[in-house]
Order: sequence, then C-alpha cells, then structure tokens
Amino acid sequence: MEMENKFLIEAFQTPSSIAPQLSTYFEDLPADKYVDSDHRYRSYARFQAENSDVVRLPHSSFFQSSEFNRVVGDVERDFAEMDHDMVSTPYFQHLLKSFMQKTGTDKDNSVVDVHQIRVTCDSDATSAPAPEGIHQDGYRFVGIFCVQRKNIAGGFTQIFASPVEQHPHLNTVLEENQFVILNDSRFFHHISETLSSEAGEKGVRDVFVFTA
Ligand SMILES: [Fe+2]
Repeated sequence: MEMENKFLIEAFQTPSSIAPQLSTYFEDLPADKYVDSDHRYRSYARFQAENSDVVRLPHSSFFQSSEFNRVVGDVERDFAEMDHDMVSTPYFQHLLKSFMQKTGTDKDNSVVDVHQIRVTCDSDATSAPAPEGIHQDGYRFVGIFCVQRKNIAGGFTQIFASPVEQHPHLNTVLEENQFVILNDSRFFHHISETLSSEAGEKGVRDVFVFTA
C-alpha cells in the first residue's frame, strides 16, 4: 500500500542576505490601481518548471473569481510587470525555487504566480493588507515571504480552518526572511490590519506572495 503524506503548512527561515538584497526593488513599485487606496503597490510575474529549469512566462493579466475575492473578484487586473533585473537575482531565484521544491511544483507543469506587494500605513489610519478578510486564494498552495517590516504594528499572519472561525490556528508576525507556505484548499488566511508604530512616520510592509 502506498502511503502518501499531504502538505499542510511549512514555515522556514531563508538566508539573512535575501530580504535586504530585494528590499530596494520595492521602492519604485507602481500603485495597485485596482484598489481604492494610495497605500498599495504591486507587480506580477508567472513562472513554470521546464525540464530542470524554471522559465518566466510571458506577462499577462490576472484574474480571480469573486468566489475567492469579494473585493476585486471577476475583474481582469493588469498589474505591472515584475522587474526583470530583480527576477534574475540569485536572491529572488532562491525564493522561487524554495517555493517550488516545497510544493512539488518543480516536478509538474503548474504555473507559479508571484505578486510583489508593498502596503504602507500611517500612525493615525490603519491599512488592510488583506481587504477581502479571512479568505482562500483559490489555489493548491499559497506562500508568503516577508521582505520588510518597518514601523509596523499589527499585520499578523493568521491561518484559520474555516472562514468564520474566531481563533486562528496560527497567529504570528512574519519577520523579514521568513517564509510560510500553506495548503490553500485546506486552510483560510488573513493578514490583520497594520498601523504605523511611529507617530508621523510611514509604516511599510513588503512581501512576495506565491501561488500555484
Ligand atoms: Fe490571500
């Protein structure tokens, strides 16, 4: 009898050089024009394993059904193309390959989507990194890697068994260079609101989100 394990959640720490090497690429991110906020910036890229290599797929628009995204579902979103120089760095490649190895998507022909996202906040107004609330993304796997948290209070990474659960299975601050990957068909996730922890200073939270 073949006994196969099923992936649930894995969290790990990457080499500490990765986040500082990639954080500069968040400075010029264009605004996310699909949300009514001047606090969200993002870019997008798609990848696929090909033989023993990972290739970048042509840029395309992004679509999520309203079944999974109550805020901007059923809207075709044309995000900015992810910076090619950043993608070719060994730091980004390490993150991409880590996600693909952990999820087995280096072995099949799954498309891996990557979103580069900055959310900013002020000390007198909260920002919602996940405006859709407790949700699934509609994939098999979702990974979140933290590049930077600066002047941030809140922004907890929370994992739930159901969309109406009160107490998360996991409620943690994803620190710089930490990567968490979860089974998106099994769990729901949410990022709690953020507030700048320094009066008069902007708070910044920079992440990559991987889905497959
Ligand atoms: Fe999500």
